[in-house]
Amino acid sequence: MEKIILDCDPGHDDAIAILLAAGNPTIDLLGITTVAGNQTIEKVTRNALAVCAAYGIEVPVARGAERPLVIPQMVADFVHGETGLDGPDLPPATFELDRRHAVDFIIDTVMSHEPKTVNLVPTGPFTNIALAIRKEPRIVERVKSVTVMGGAHTRGNITPGAEFNIYVDPEAAEAVFRADWDVTMVGLDLTHQALATSELQDRVRAVGGPISKFVLDLWAFIGSTYESNWEFAAPPVHDACCVAALIDPAVFTVAKADVRVELHGEWTKGMTVVNFQDAPGMHHDAGSAAKQTDFRTNVAMTLEWPRFADQIVDALTYLTEK
Ligand code: RIB
Ligand code: CA
Repeated sequence: MEKIILDCDPGHDDAIAILLAAGNPTIDLLGITTVAGNQTIEKVTRNALAVCAAYGIEVPVARGAERPLVIPQMVADFVHGETGLDGPDLPPATFELDRRHAVDFIIDTVMSHEPKTVNLVPTGPFTNIALAIRKEPRIVERVKSVTVMGGAHTRGNITPGAEFNIYVDPEAAEAVFRADWDVTMVGLDLTHQALATSELQDRVRAVGGPISKFVLDLWAFIGSTYESNWEFAAPPVHDACCVAALIDPAVFTVAKADVRVELHGEWTKGMTVVNFQDAPGMHHDAGSAAKQTDFRTNVAMTLEWPRFADQIVDALTYLTEK
């Protein structure tokens, strides 16, 4: 069993990540924390509660940061719609929020479990994670792993250089990559391989029942915005890739790299500068021989799509039959 806290901004692909985590018996979903990203904190929190209530996912949900650490908030209504989860009909959220702020939920949960047993899975901007490090630095040595959806080593989706989760809160992202813990970066180069193809959609349709319809309605809406914004033939299920790796680390390959977040570039702010080998320019400085680079981050490279697709179908089947 892998214990996880899913920090998310539902968001169509975040909703799939919730279902995958709740629908796989090898995952112990300790809680869901929400962060402003795809939509406002009110909307993403309502969405998280509504998905949990609709499909009997009885885990704590704690509301988190309502804006990035430094720069003004940006939402992705052009992708996820006005509600943040446009497309499917979701019943109103009947579950109550955890009384704690997401940052306190993360700290309490990590500090109350045995060291190296809790995994953090941020799939929205990393604001809550950065605030938790600042409030309780001891979580860094105590957390087992951090598997983030964010960044890219080739090109971004919001600007040519920057991916949305990082672009929205680059300062938080840099804090997460600089902390001395085990980070896996699941960037666009990986998640753009995780497409909800017609083959996968047919398999989900065959599961039948309300969850199957919910997921297909999610993909119908997000598929239309991915086609109109980026000419995708099928929508990428970005965030579920992080949970998939906690279920089966062999679901994708990784390569070690030094990952830095650009914080000052006029046209490159939020870009993840991914250095797979010791590029001399990264530590060339007349006054300093000290290396600035570390090659600690695991960057996700190649997805085993059949294994990923099987996980999605198995989780929806499990939730439908439970
Ligand atoms: O760039 C993709 C990421 O931004 C995904 O996590 C999606 O949900 C949005 O938050
Ligand atoms: Ca997300």
